[in-house]
Formats: sequence, structure tokens, C-alpha cells
Amino acid sequence: MFLPASTVLPRRRWLQTAAATALTTLSQPSLSASAMTIRLSHVVARDTPKGMALERFRSLVEERSQNRIRVQIYPQGQLYGDHDEMQALQLGAVDMVAPSLSKFGPIGFPEFELFDLPFLFDSVEAVRRLTRGTIGRTLLQGLNRQRLMGLGFFDNGFKHMSANKPLLEPRDFRGLRMRIQGSRVIAQQMRSWGALPVVLPFSETRRALETGVVDGTENPVSNFWTQGMQAVQSDLSLTGHGYLGYAVVTHQRFWDNLPPKDRNLVQGALDDALVFGNEIADAQNDKALAALHLTGAANIHNPSPAQTQMLKKASAPVHVELATRIGPDWLNTVQNALRKTS
Ligand code: LMR
Repeated sequence: MFLPASTVLPRRRWLQTAAATALTTLSQPSLSASAMTIRLSHVVARDTPKGMALERFRSLVEERSQNRIRVQIYPQGQLYGDHDEMQALQLGAVDMVAPSLSKFGPIGFPEFELFDLPFLFDSVEAVRRLTRGTIGRTLLQGLNRQRLMGLGFFDNGFKHMSANKPLLEPRDFRGLRMRIQGSRVIAQQMRSWGALPVVLPFSETRRALETGVVDGTENPVSNFWTQGMQAVQSDLSLTGHGYLGYAVVTHQRFWDNLPPKDRNLVQGALDDALVFGNEIADAQNDKALAALHLTGAANIHNPSPAQTQMLKKASAPVHVELATRIGPDWLNTVQNALRKTS
């Protein structure tokens, strides 16, 4: 049982209803040996790296379980969004979510904001060497603090800046209101360039750009394109200043309820789907960029090496500020790991 997507309830009512739903759900065996449905919610379009990876997860689970286990995906924030997807997971109103790593800081996991550090990574391979090693395992285990289970990491790619003007060096950002995810590191990044960070849910971003609530934002090209942001942002500047990746998360209660053989089947399908997602992520971002070039729907700019150096220099203090927030040992561990593998 869950709230139909069309239901729009005032927040308080929603919580009461979701709690009642969860209790109902919990009072019934959420799984039976015969058949079950995994409800998975995410906030982006289907034809994005995340959307396609999770679709692959669905088809692998259904195929390998001979449809005994179904996966119902709710994309584009149809069911839950940035405001409430983690609450919905805690209440058992949804079984899996796949938020951006930038969305874990505000819910009590500031260590995840290391992925938001501007210009920390020079490639997704460098990120994967972290997420596939001890650091990745430690981060996922840390989610147990709130009875969450981290099931795996996967990529989208590097973020670029958009607005109705080129954004190539710090002075271009001065005074601009820039939509960001709820990460303190990203907020500091924007401030270091003279912009005003504005935290908004992903689902409200395009409208906020259209109405002038914010002047610009940052996205991988696949999100920029699939959300139609080119209709409300005239300029895309390929700064590649930060990384956007995801973690698939479930609740311990759901995971513990799964019979061991189903747990193995679901984890195996997810592992394979995330490898697939990483394989297609670059291609999806390249396809979106090619579409923008072809349609001429946005002016596309490349910062010069000198301009990139200016952005890096201005945002360097964010690394120190984060060390204070998450503990210097975290950052030292990450930097040592990156040095070893570069
Ligand atoms: C955003 O909020 O900009 C991204 O986290 C959306 C997504 O999930 O890719």
C-alpha cells in the first residue's frame, strides 16, 4: 500500500498517512515466498544514466526470479522527491531509493560531501577507485547509523554550469542565485565564486529557472537535457568542476525481511545493473551534449585553462572547510587514496 502518485497531501497529513501506511505495510508480511514487489523511487527522467541503470535492475530481478519478484519504479519524483524520499524509506512507504551522494549530508551523513568537493576528481575512474575500496565500504556501512543499508554506488558524471550568460571564471558568478542540492560543500563552492546558493528540490529546479527564482544551476548534461533546461537557460559552460554520483539505499527492516536467496538475487542484479549504468553514463552525457550542439538549443562554452585555474584557486578553501565539518582524517584518507591510484 502506498500513496498514489496523484495524491497531494499537506506535509503533516502526508506524514500521518505515510506512517499509517507503513504500519499497515509492516503489519502485513511485506514479502511472501510466493510473490513480492520492490517499490523504487527516484527523481530523474527514465532516459538518464540513473533511470536506465535502475530499469536494468528491474529487468534483471524479474528475469532471474521468473517474475516472482517484481520491481515497480517511480521515476521523475512521481512518488517521492528530495523533500521526502528518505522519510518514505524510513517509514516503509518505499523500499529503495537512489539519491545523489550530495543529498546525504543534510540527513546526518556529512562524510558523503567529500564527493562534492570542487575539482577533487579528474575522472570517474578515480571516483570508482574510492567507491569500490575501503572508503566506499566504510561510507555505506556508516548508513547503518540510521538503519539504512547502502547497496552500491554508481555514476552520472561531471557537472557543468548553466545560466543566461557564460559562467567561466569567478567574476561571472558574482551575485547570481544558483540552485544547488542540499550539500554544504556545494553551497561553499558557490559562495567562493561570489554566487548565492539556493537549495531547491530537483523537481522544482526547471520552474525556478523559468520564473527567475534562481539564475542558474549545475548539472551533468544528461540531467540538463532531459529536464529541458535548455529552454530556460541560454548558456551551458562546460566547467566539469564537480562530480555527481549515486548510492542505492534500502532500509534494514526491508533487507532483513528478504529471504537470503532473494537477498542474493536482488544484490546480484543490482551489482550487474550498476556496472551497466557506469558503462552507459558517459555515452548518455555525450549524447545529450551532441543533441544540444545539433539543436543549437543552448550556447555552449569551454573555459580556458587559465579560467579553470581561477575557479580552482577560488574554491580551494572549501576543501579545508569540509575537513572541519567531516574530520580531517576523512579528507587525508581520500587524498592519500587518490594519490596512490593516480
Ligand atoms: C540534483 O538534485 O541535481 C540531482 O541529484 C538529481 C539526480 O538525482 O541526478
